[in-house]
Amino acid sequence: MAATLRLNYMSYHTPSWWKEATAYQIYPRSFNDSNGDGIGDLAGITEKLDYLGELGIDLLWISPVYQSPNADNGYDISDYREIMDEFGTMGDMTELIRAAHGRGIRIVMDLVVNHTSDKHAWFRSSRSNPEGPYGDYYIWGAGRNGGPPNNWLSAFGGEAWSFDERRGQYYLHIYTPNQPDLNWDNPRLRADIYAMMRFWLERGVDGFRMDVINQISKPPALPDDTDPAPGTRPGFRFYTNGPNVHSHIREMNAEVLSHYDIVTIGEMHATGTEEALRYVSPERNELDMIFHFEHMLLDAGPGGKWDVRPIDLDELKRVFTRWQQALHGRGWNSLFLNNHDYPRMVSRFGDDGEYRVQSAKLLAGVTYLMQGTPFLFQGEEIGMTNASFETIESYRDVETLNYYAEQRAAGVAEAEIMRRIHLASRDNARTPFQWNGVQGAGFTTGTPWIPLNDNYRSINLAAQWDEPDSVLSFYRRLIRLRKESAAALYGDFEVIEEAASPLFVYRRQTEGEMLTVVANLSSTKHAAPQETGRGTLALSNYADGSPNITALRPWELVVLTGAPVQPR
Ligand code: GLC
Ligand code: CA
Repeated sequence: MAATLRLNYMSYHTPSWWKEATAYQIYPRSFNDSNGDGIGDLAGITEKLDYLGELGIDLLWISPVYQSPNADNGYDISDYREIMDEFGTMGDMTELIRAAHGRGIRIVMDLVVNHTSDKHAWFRSSRSNPEGPYGDYYIWGAGRNGGPPNNWLSAFGGEAWSFDERRGQYYLHIYTPNQPDLNWDNPRLRADIYAMMRFWLERGVDGFRMDVINQISKPPALPDDTDPAPGTRPGFRFYTNGPNVHSHIREMNAEVLSHYDIVTIGEMHATGTEEALRYVSPERNELDMIFHFEHMLLDAGPGGKWDVRPIDLDELKRVFTRWQQALHGRGWNSLFLNNHDYPRMVSRFGDDGEYRVQSAKLLAGVTYLMQGTPFLFQGEEIGMTNASFETIESYRDVETLNYYAEQRAAGVAEAEIMRRIHLASRDNARTPFQWNGVQGAGFTTGTPWIPLNDNYRSINLAAQWDEPDSVLSFYRRLIRLRKESAAALYGDFEVIEEAASPLFVYRRQTEGEMLTVVANLSSTKHAAPQETGRGTLALSNYADGSPNITALRPWELVVLTGAPVQPR
């Protein structure tokens, strides 16, 4: 049994609003279309604030809404101080912030500053005027032997360098050629970014989710990568948690973040607990939380994300436990099982067939009752599932389309490529929110920019609204329970059932309260552990859940409260 820290929990965790918040990620394109053009928009979000408030949400992370040519759905920004035409106007944004704050809901914007769009004014100037003020805002390099400066590859296929005819040099792009990487070693670029951040904070924004923020620092020598780690691309190990990343973030904190009452969450691939603590330990003055991906990559085989393997449950429990214990009293976790870059959680970690309802509830309960701030992704609260479109024509995501073309060119059979796309495409999570069962699913009166998931007629919010056993009703209860329980918010974490069992059983305790979470992560029955006899029922995912059970049904979750037990 792993050791648990048992000191005064409050001395460990200074309470704060963002630790107690329940966050909800909106992918605006697919949330709610207010004007019938098939694309979700800001006014559409404002229309749904009452719904979000009623669910218990008090923090929104909104994926990028800035001006963008949409090579990567807004993650390619051409103007940081304007709103994307399709999403509305600055007036709509002001109204959204005002209306959200009026309901006690805070707003976190997506800060995409590893790269801009190639249509950004800085890049246009950098290309055409190397000696000018923006000449050094990007990462330029001379070719080598008729090819690019080094062998790094792009995350979305192909080389990480493109040749620019105008400037006669190559520029680095870790993502698509339309997303040139910014040169963070240039202090003038950093000052411009900070000014832009203040622009939004002064407009009332409550924080930032920072896109691939641990990739902003590249080693100046830009070395060839002759030995990439298995499953990673050449270059990845050099630009991930690179040489100046901590000094840049500390400077950003001193210049901007520390002057506002905000929350910051850094998106960080390939970051383990030790490195994470360098970002989130309060005394280091960097960020509040990170999104790490250790649990999100457990189904990636040797061939990477498209090479999907079954998830090893023991490994999942070990990852959760490691993060809970490593950050306890020293940092703060984010809690999530899906977002706009990954498949739907119920299709991936649960059972989206016979036990869809039970497993969707269980996954939420078991994840969000750990210590940390939950980040729900739109649609999970009604148990939305993967899309699995029949043909590639229905897909929109640049990563998916590039992968398809690459694999076709390599001679892989169509059916095999589609099988992989059904499992791993980012579009699984990007189909429109299913508000109701009529044409357009209540998302749009027009033609949606990406097809709806066919199952919207049965899986939708309207059908679950008044239904006490629905996934939605469970989420309402879960969010309330977490808010009202000191043990759920700040208690310590102890695993009871560890390895070689589909059960995940843990206990959260403060001086005054104990919460025990008992979950059967499988489609078969299992004998219940002793813990189920102790305490009163706080939450269950079956209509007739009870604390006194001898066996757990498929995907059954039982949460108990009671007086704390003595440390063993
Ligand atoms: C992040 C975003 C993803 C985007 C990428 C490049 O991982 O979440 O959607 O494609 O960064 O900006
Ligand atoms: Ca619209």
